[in-house]
Amino acid sequence: MELTQNLWERYGFTHNPYDTKALSLSKAAPLSVQEAYIPRADSAATADLLTNFLRNPGGGRIVVEGDPGVGKTTFVNFHRQQWETKARHKLISPPGEISVREGWSERDFLLNLLASLSARLRLDLGEKAFEKNKLLSEITAVVGVRSEDGSGLSGSLTLFGFGGGLGRTRSKSVKIGEITNEHLRDYLHGLMELVKKQGFAGVIFHFDNLELLGRRDVGALKTFFEAVRDALQESGVYFIFVANTGMFQQVIVPLPRVRSIFFDTPVRLDPLSALEAKAVIDRRYQLLAVPGKQWIKPVTDQVVESLYHIFTGRIRYVMNAITSLISHLPDSYARSLELAQATTIFQAIVLSEVKALLHGTEEAVFLQAAAAGRFTNSELGTRAQKSKQQIQKYLDNWLGLNLVSQKERVGRNQFYEIDPRFAILREQQEHPQMSSELTETSSNPTSGTNP
Ligand SMILES: Nc1ncnc2c1ncn2[C@@H]1O[C@H](COP(=O)(O)OP(=O)(O)O)[C@@H](O)[C@H]1O
Ligand SMILES: [Mg+2]
Repeated sequence: MELTQNLWERYGFTHNPYDTKALSLSKAAPLSVQEAYIPRADSAATADLLTNFLRNPGGGRIVVEGDPGVGKTTFVNFHRQQWETKARHKLISPPGEISVREGWSERDFLLNLLASLSARLRLDLGEKAFEKNKLLSEITAVVGVRSEDGSGLSGSLTLFGFGGGLGRTRSKSVKIGEITNEHLRDYLHGLMELVKKQGFAGVIFHFDNLELLGRRDVGALKTFFEAVRDALQESGVYFIFVANTGMFQQVIVPLPRVRSIFFDTPVRLDPLSALEAKAVIDRRYQLLAVPGKQWIKPVTDQVVESLYHIFTGRIRYVMNAITSLISHLPDSYARSLELAQATTIFQAIVLSEVKALLHGTEEAVFLQAAAAGRFTNSELGTRAQKSKQQIQKYLDNWLGLNLVSQKERVGRNQFYEIDPRFAILREQQEHPQMSSELTETSSNPTSGTNP
């Protein structure tokens, strides 16, 4: 095999057109929101809601919800980019998304806000002005110490004389070696004044992977929101929390004190429509084509459509599947992969993934589960003719391996759902004759030239 770094060159692309990273805010990235974002048609309900949230002067808190891979992170990135560059009242935001980790306290939360916002201001002010600023160098010291020793704040910090420049704590005596959360909130307040002095209307903080925390433990998320409630009320700050479907209802609604400071409704994102998903991919073909060269589609549009239906619109899974398909083709293969062949290859890939993890009866029962897609313990038991205990043993193992996930509970019935990447197995069993008659019916060109 040739050791070049571009699997996609043979199709005429500089990068993988099916890359599933969220679109970047940076124009320098191969796929940026500026160039690669496709507006969502559901915008009347979603984009407008987020825009109206950000149009409220003074700050706020909102939840953006949706299933994995529907485009939540990208959606928020797009809006951040718009407000940073196109708005009359500009809202700046730290370059990356912030990830909430398990067990975060208010302190961890505040330290992360301070670190990311001061990093953003450093870009804006330039190194010189940044270092001259007393508040910024204090914060850098606090945040810096924390990242060096990991454990917390050390006594030597008092050298920096924090508290002096900050209104609310000026009169308080500060114990040696201790920075209270109130100090940290004052720092945030100080930073916000600086932001406004720079001519910006506010700051957007984008917290991205609450779904990771929340899935394991709703209680942990509740504790987190209770703990950070005060920090969330800094004026001029817009907090956007991205989470899995249902988080607002499960976590925020039962906490009246927290709910009262949140935007009424969460923004709920549905999967992109089939046309939008296709537009996303077509746009990428154009953007990533090697300049002046011919390119061809690595897979036909029928493959994209078929995967779109298999994965019920979750575009991340669609694009991952295509990358996986192309990675399994021989190097010499340089035409558009057609549906019949794609289906066969993809089923083989997924099946071998199952066989690597499960064996014998368990494997057979899993394939039954895959055929069902969604099921309860007793439904699967009936289908596979196994006892409740036996099924439960399997389910626990599959949960641990991320082969299935828990869905809602209806009465005493817990529903389970097969991970979307196994949906193709269902296809196989339901339509064993998945045939070639579906291919080559489209008049879409499968190639083009980059102008
Ligand atoms: N509106 C859109 N326009 C262009 N690409 C999109 C759009 N929505 C999602 N994508 C792409 O789909 C993939 C999944 O999106 P992502 O934002 O990571 O989903 P989520 O955060 O919901 O898991 C990413 O590669 C992203 O670039
Ligand atoms: Mg995401």
